[in-house]
Amino acid sequence: MSQNTQILLKRQSAGVPVAADFETTTAPMPAAGEGELLCETLYLSLDPYLRGKISGRHLSGAILPGDLMAGEAISRVVDSKHADFAPGDLIRAHTGWQSHSTLPAAEARRVDPSLAPLSTFLGVLGMPGLTAYAGLLRLGEPVAGDTVLVSAASGAVGSMVGQIAMQKGCRAIGIAGAPEKCAWVKDTAGFADCVSYKTGNLREQLDECSPDGFDLYFDNVGGDTLQAAMERLRLGARVVLCGLMAQYNTTEMPPGPNPAWIIKARATVRGMVVYDHEDLRETFVKEVSGWLREGKIHYLEDRTSGLENAAEAFSRLMRGDNVGKAIVVVGDE
Ligand SMILES: NC(=O)c1ccc[n+]([C@@H]2O[C@H](COP(=O)([O-])OP(=O)(O)OC[C@H]3O[C@@H](n4cnc5c(N)ncnc54)[C@H](OP(=O)(O)O)[C@@H]3O)[C@@H](O)[C@H]2O)c1
Repeated sequence: MSQNTQILLKRQSAGVPVAADFETTTAPMPAAGEGELLCETLYLSLDPYLRGKISGRHLSGAILPGDLMAGEAISRVVDSKHADFAPGDLIRAHTGWQSHSTLPAAEARRVDPSLAPLSTFLGVLGMPGLTAYAGLLRLGEPVAGDTVLVSAASGAVGSMVGQIAMQKGCRAIGIAGAPEKCAWVKDTAGFADCVSYKTGNLREQLDECSPDGFDLYFDNVGGDTLQAAMERLRLGARVVLCGLMAQYNTTEMPPGPNPAWIIKARATVRGMVVYDHEDLRETFVKEVSGWLREGKIHYLEDRTSGLENAAEAFSRLMRGDNVGKAIVVVGDE
């Protein structure tokens, strides 16, 4: 254990990121300073916001060529120079694409492996889960009996939005790409329906599943999917704008969406930023880990083994080829 493997951004991606945009290097193994922890990475989270950081368009700041790729990870403490942590402790922190890291103990958050599998703290019990939970319950204000539509429905955020909506007595309808994704959304996650925008006419399919439209639309995509959903808002509908998968890889913004639909339906649209909802995390982990234990929540993980494959896995995520929460298995639990 004398070397630390790291993956740096080599150049700004043009369009969908490719493995050649990244480079693997080794650095000497870091040592924990006073008040710090030395950790080994177990699971690394790949998330769409990283694409925004590469283009310098994300609110959390840019990643520049030569920088260590950013990312949240679950790690095991190897050495601690802080009284609150000991070797063997399991933590969640933004330690980046590397096999080992040092960080101030104050930046580490403990994870409890007795609640659920460790990797879920990056997915259903992590940032994407909190995004769904807070975005739906706090901003979407679902009411039992509502018909809730969500895009990227097999993904980390979308699959949770629909399943949490169902826990609250709503009818969940998903939009996803491949028919296999739609099948999982319906058959395993239990949505009432899921339409594939890749294999049929999106508008016709939406009208078939819910001829009267939708009470709540949780948007993870933007572009024409958002437009199609907005055309079908019921009176008093709520729209949660959460993500823009359709335009992260583009330099030119697509036209629309047309806000006229929002006005016509007297709908409320609220922007979702997960960082505003940290205060909900404890409640969210408690409630959702209970649902997990009871088998009421299902999740998909798109696992890649080895830090050296992280760049290719990230490229797959940004192409939309991931099926479920993208996780890189970096070390042994
Ligand atoms: N606002 C916040 O604080 C916040 C926090 C977390 C995540 N988000 C956003 O939530 C959304 C979902 O994130 P996630 O982590 O759950 O990802 P994910 O859904 O697991 O993966 C992304 C999915 O987006 C879909 N997609 C739709 N149009 C696409 C396109 N043009 N190119 C590539 N993929 C496309 C693909 O599924 P299909 O094949 O089914 O289309 C792809 O699998 C993202 O937009 C993300 O930025 C926002």
